[in-house]
Amino acid sequence: MSFHIQPIDVADKSSFYKELAIQLRGLLEGERDAVANAANCSALINQSLADLNWAGFYIMRNGELVLGPFQGKTACVRIAVGRGVCGAAVERKISILVEDVHAFPGHIACDAASRSELVVPLIRAGEIIGVIDLDSPSPGRFDEDDRLGIETLARIFVEASDPF
Ligand code: SME
Repeated sequence: MSFHIQPIDVADKSSFYKELAIQLRGLLEGERDAVANAANCSALINQSLADLNWAGFYIMRNGELVLGPFQGKTACVRIAVGRGVCGAAVERKISILVEDVHAFPGHIACDAASRSELVVPLIRAGEIIGVIDLDSPSPGRFDEDDRLGIETLARIFVEASDPF
């Protein structure tokens, strides 16, 4: 089966994310393998959002985050809970939006080009099973619309997939 990602032509971000959510549901339909779905979800985000240099998943394994499917440059493999933006999102159980990564204590620079970052937890039955991490080379690239939009994609991913 092939799936054609449609260019999204909308004036406002909330409409953009509504359309992207529809595309993600279509992309994951009929497949429950979490690795395959995370890989396609990363690709969809990377193809659809402007100005990203990294988009992907870290997966909770034995109490730490381990690199999952992603698009972008090679990245650090293991992140302890509480470390970096990803580990902080797990520890605090919330999405974290960083306008300037240089101002975030403990930020882990996988790609020196990254200037802003959005990390959204993946939650299944109240437990954090991983995160979606987006990096941009532009400071202040992400806002509340992006946070809400990516949180919706994270929910769709979890509902559509079996556990990792
Ligand atoms: N910057 C992240 C590490 C992962 S890379 O950006 C892909 C962090 O501080 O947790």
